[in-house]
Amino acid sequence: MKSKMTISKNFKIGEVDKRLFGSFIEHLGRAVYDGIYEKDNEDCDKNGFRQDVKELIKEIDVPVIRYPGGNFVSNFKWEDSVGPKEERPSRLDLAWRTIETNEIGLGEFYEYAKEVNSEVMMAVNLGTRGMEDARNLIEYCNHPGGSKYSNLRISHGAKEPYNFKIWCLGNEMDGPWQMGHKTANEYGRIASETAKLMKAVDPDIELVACGSSYRTMETFGKWEETVLEHTYDYVDYVSLHQYFGKYYGDISTSDYKGDLYSEKEYTENYLAKSLSMDEYIEDVVAICDYVKAVKRQRKTINISFDEWNIWYHSKEQEEAIVNGDPWQIAPRLLEDIYTMEDALVFGTMGISLLKHADRVKIACVAQLVNVIAPIMTEPNGPAWKQTIFYPYKDLSKYGRGIVLVPVVECDTYDTLEFEKVPYVESVAVYNEEKEEVTIFAVNRNLEEDIDFKIQIEGFTKIEAIEHTILQSDGAEDRNDIENTQKVTPIIIEDINVMNNEVSAKLNKFSWNVIRVKVK
Ligand code: AHR
Repeated sequence: MKSKMTISKNFKIGEVDKRLFGSFIEHLGRAVYDGIYEKDNEDCDKNGFRQDVKELIKEIDVPVIRYPGGNFVSNFKWEDSVGPKEERPSRLDLAWRTIETNEIGLGEFYEYAKEVNSEVMMAVNLGTRGMEDARNLIEYCNHPGGSKYSNLRISHGAKEPYNFKIWCLGNEMDGPWQMGHKTANEYGRIASETAKLMKAVDPDIELVACGSSYRTMETFGKWEETVLEHTYDYVDYVSLHQYFGKYYGDISTSDYKGDLYSEKEYTENYLAKSLSMDEYIEDVVAICDYVKAVKRQRKTINISFDEWNIWYHSKEQEEAIVNGDPWQIAPRLLEDIYTMEDALVFGTMGISLLKHADRVKIACVAQLVNVIAPIMTEPNGPAWKQTIFYPYKDLSKYGRGIVLVPVVECDTYDTLEFEKVPYVESVAVYNEEKEEVTIFAVNRNLEEDIDFKIQIEGFTKIEAIEHTILQSDGAEDRNDIENTQKVTPIIIEDINVMNNEVSAKLNKFSWNVIRVKVK
């Protein structure tokens, strides 16, 4: 099979915001405790943070980390998580039905994020709490001193303000599962008034209003419109969240459980789900611009895709803890072990973000350690890379610069949910400073390799750098505690450059990063 991509230095989608490949750490399961933090592990730093995990986070180069939730934030009392540790109370976290010890809190996480070179994307509780607490929290975090809450922070040892710049106004407030769930009007009102107070304390912050939790939410569309009607003047972004699973999705078959079709049909369909992510982003952009027009606004609202990933392997584990054996400290929750095919779906989702870089400015892989995460740990054991670690690292490392419009010619196929799915999903990023063009490409074909030609216009000289490829014999192959190296990338030397045309082979069912030097 053959495919051709044409790109030009002059046809640009937009500059990648450095926050596009951020992540998320929630007080959930073993993300914090026994994840980034393990006080009895001898390989930890003086604050109890695992050195190996810090190194892996730095290897990905995570620009921003959303914190402290998630569903957790909607019943979070921030005051419990600051000050002397021995005075901090343990609390019932109603979102995940576990015990939060507050051993790690705001100040410790601020220091941690600095060490791994990430910015904190902070969230306020608009579920069980409201504007007064949000106002106090931002005063605690960002006001230099001379007031009650800034002085409190100083008394806790932090003389300089944290200066958190991005704040989420609650989390998934459209979801009935959310503590303090609201209608769009209720949320729109509280979010706009909270935003007003927060920007009065610190006018330099950027605010994210909650969009829908999924595109399949019944309220999707109307929710964004109503929320933006209330909040347009005060907020800068609207959030999108999306998790894909192999056996659930948008198929409107009521008994769709994963046993109606063949494995091959499910895989082909699963690999196409990024098409729905493309549409989701485009739908929300349209709604933002509709409200902009109706309000005769100059300001544009952009997208914060602050939760995205694959999530379906661990649903039974979640059920067993949350409904079967609650109130544990840091139980194993949402610990999806990712497969080769998950890595490919993940890669296509990352490509979708790049293709919309003109409007998606912030995005967070949910999450970072142990909980639906690229990095896994075992207490007093190793930390290792899941399959999705590799496309995440590639996107974060090389997906910086200007995204070029990808014109891709290739064969297509139909699936259970989608029509005309291109076998090749691809995008290119031009890094002017490094004089490099990186092409990310997924071959969705399960049986055939693809002879891929890339015509690159607008440069006088093109030279091959390298082609890395992630593939494995089985779609279900994974890295786990027994074999942490089963799926790892390899470098292949198959890039040919003739004038302005680059050729490489996209092996069947693979993730590819093709890099060339340009002048
Ligand atoms: O990331 C896991 C959970 O998914 C988050 O807590 C919530 O916001 C979403 O439903």
